[in-house]
Amino acid sequence: MQKLSRRQVIATFSAATFTLCPAVLNAAVYGWADGFTDDAPQGQDRLVNVSGSAMVDITDLAPGEMAVFARANGAGEFTNTGGTQYVGILHRTPEQIAAGAGAQTQDERYLVVNLVCPHCGFAIGLTDDPSTPFACTKTGGRHGSTFNAAGVGVGGASDDGDTLSVPGYTLNVGGTVTISLT
Ligand code: FES
Repeated sequence: MQKLSRRQVIATFSAATFTLCPAVLNAAVYGWADGFTDDAPQGQDRLVNVSGSAMVDITDLAPGEMAVFARANGAGEFTNTGGTQYVGILHRTPEQIAAGAGAQTQDERYLVVNLVCPHCGFAIGLTDDPSTPFACTKTGGRHGSTFNAAGVGVGGASDDGDTLSVPGYTLNVGGTVTISLT
């Protein structure tokens, strides 16, 4: 079993300081880093690389923090992300849980979603906005989807309530917290 290290945590939404890592998080209007592409998440530079049905200990992921898993996956859903499935795990704050009611979760504290846009399948980036933590990297035209802390579309092409898809996973929350991707 792998264990999430603090180095792999993307601390985005803790307390009142939303931008803890301005160098790696997106700027205004989701202005992703120079030279960004739309085939991989933006707003982070750290990944937890896994393969198969890996189990990872995410006990150290604190409320307001997110981690991104990456694994090879040849399913059609991940064609536009180069055959890589990126999974975002957001340990939601109480405020995010309250604002993101109705999320499809196994435990309301943890939102687990594929970082692939339900509009046309481009990669989802991570913002520094706790109320809208996800945004599509495909900008311009009729794109620019944004998603709330329930993974529900609230802006751009997905403003009609498209939701981020949920990967197969098993979450065990006890003395330790582990997630297994299926
Ligand atoms: S692919 Fe994400 S908004 Fe179009």
